[in-house]
Amino acid sequence: MSEQHINTTQVGRSFGRSADSYDAHAVLQREVADRLLGHLEFSKIRPQRVLDIGCGTGYFTRLLHQRFKRAHLTAVDIAHGMVLAAQDKHPRRMPWGARTSFARADAARLPFADASFDLVASNLAMQWVSDPELMLAEMRRVLAPGGLMLLSTFGRRTLGELRQSLADFSHEHAGLVLPFPDVTSLGDALMKLSVELPVTDTDLFTLTYPNPMALVRELKGLGATSSAIKNRPAGLYGRRLLRHLDEHYAAHHSEADGRIRATFEVLYAQAWHAVEPFKPKGDIIPIEHHA
Ligand SMILES: C[S@@+](CC[C@H](N)C(=O)[O-])C[C@H]1O[C@@H](n2cnc3c(N)ncnc32)[C@H](O)[C@@H]1O
Repeated sequence: MSEQHINTTQVGRSFGRSADSYDAHAVLQREVADRLLGHLEFSKIRPQRVLDIGCGTGYFTRLLHQRFKRAHLTAVDIAHGMVLAAQDKHPRRMPWGARTSFARADAARLPFADASFDLVASNLAMQWVSDPELMLAEMRRVLAPGGLMLLSTFGRRTLGELRQSLADFSHEHAGLVLPFPDVTSLGDALMKLSVELPVTDTDLFTLTYPNPMALVRELKGLGATSSAIKNRPAGLYGRRLLRHLDEHYAAHHSEADGRIRATFEVLYAQAWHAVEPFKPKGDIIPIEHHA
């Protein structure tokens, strides 16, 4: 996975601004959060200290809270507005004393000591981190021996239609869609960490929208704007570009009923912090599901 041209300060600003509109648009994000937690369905882990990285408005944090009722949860996000929203929506302190702490923090520079958590999780935040491998290394660093890291992120096929339409408009505009990693490079990045039993899998979602502008509006409502991408072209989404997108989608990415398609590929990964030093044997075999 390569380092991306992302301005982290701007990521925090964009998501902070969208803290109020995020939930109305985040249907896919909630579905992926449910599926990510589903990865623990047959697991017997009983973590006492759980970290949620890139908590947003806290949907996944609340799922973790329901699942691990007695754990001390810590939820962090780069956007101050998101931290406040997550804190606001979180259930009050439980009678049995489980606590949740919220903080503003960068996934690539976690303000926690080594081995501080038994479960380190993150739902759909890694695609916004300028150095995803650094985030993985940080997740591993704060994980205690015997602990589990669990994450989801968007994969290479995500928004392929939008990337194609933008590329057809100009080479520079193609760069407005983030260069999402493929599942193999995510697996390779995990193998570089000293972890045990790394597993990756994928889901493919196709959503439809009335027109390209509706998709662009949804991305904006989520805070997933291109303002954080360094060296983006000027005159974004001007009238000429929007006309081009309408025509290109109608010709190449539309359904029989005239709605347009948007693909979202989701990558999931999990790995254990070995109690004993671990020597990996062989490759990870990716599994693909189609939603
Ligand atoms: C698509 S939202 C996902 C939010 C939440 N996990 C969910 O499932 O709804 C991505 C979140 O990651 C946060 N984020 C992006 N870059 C980050 C970074 N470097 N460190 C911490 N959080 C980050 C954003 O502010 C945003 O709240």
